[in-house]
Amino acid sequence: MKTLMIKTHEAWLEMLMAGFMSKTQNKQVLFDFSDILFRHFTWLENELIEMEESYSYDRDSIPIKVEKLSDLLHDIVLRLNEIDLQLLSSPDKELAGRIASDIHYMRDVVSNMNDEIITAFSMERVFPGISLTQEATDALTLFLFEETYKEYELIMIYNYLKAHSNDAYMNRIFQILIDESFFHLKSFGDMGAKMGILAVPRIVMKELYQVEDVVMFLKDGINEELAAKEECKKLSEAVGKDSPELAKFFDFINHQENYHIALMKDALKHYTGEEHA
Ligand SMILES: [Fe+2]
Ligand SMILES: [Fe+2]
Repeated sequence: MKTLMIKTHEAWLEMLMAGFMSKTQNKQVLFDFSDILFRHFTWLENELIEMEESYSYDRDSIPIKVEKLSDLLHDIVLRLNEIDLQLLSSPDKELAGRIASDIHYMRDVVSNMNDEIITAFSMERVFPGISLTQEATDALTLFLFEETYKEYELIMIYNYLKAHSNDAYMNRIFQILIDESFFHLKSFGDMGAKMGILAVPRIVMKELYQVEDVVMFLKDGINEELAAKEECKKLSEAVGKDSPELAKFFDFINHQENYHIALMKDALKHYTGEEHA
């Protein structure tokens, strides 16, 4: 079961990376499939929790540097085959059957996708249609590298907290934050691929999601969101002269962080037992 969850985690991320790399109608299909694999991951996690088995979000590193999409898709198919095989020994036959049915369909679609030449690792650091100064390019590169990891980290943390909580009020907030982080992760990953600097986010340390003190976590989290807002503001200014379009995008992301802060403050109030406004 644990191996199955880890393999699903890896397949989810690899499918997501394939989505970032694609520039054709394959893209949306790959994104949808990666979402499905993420949901499988959460179901398997829930199964482990019910069986009271300890687990972590550790996984292997995932090599994704390919020149042709078909090379990565071939690897994804191998991973899906492994998952399929592992499912045979899963204790929950109904769950295993449900996942297997998805896996079989995805494997079929992925094996028949049209090939694409991949430029997501070119290291050219040129945003298509936009000419940025060296300084703005550096700022954007750093931002994408840091924030892509950060959003992945947040997804894992909120997901872990949600998996271990039976509090409907908190779980509604955690789910919104997961969805919002997915949007940011997808936006930044896509930009990273366009810039030719796509990379799989590094593994999240256990200490970060196995949160001991939720109040402390939320307080720190609010400060981190405030810091993220500053980063967005700085970046919007750095790219503003060369690209009003990119500047507007980072202002939009900046304002979305206000909502995250409001949600986290709400969660904090709920958690510490204060009245809701
Ligand atoms: Fe964000
Ligand atoms: Fe945020």
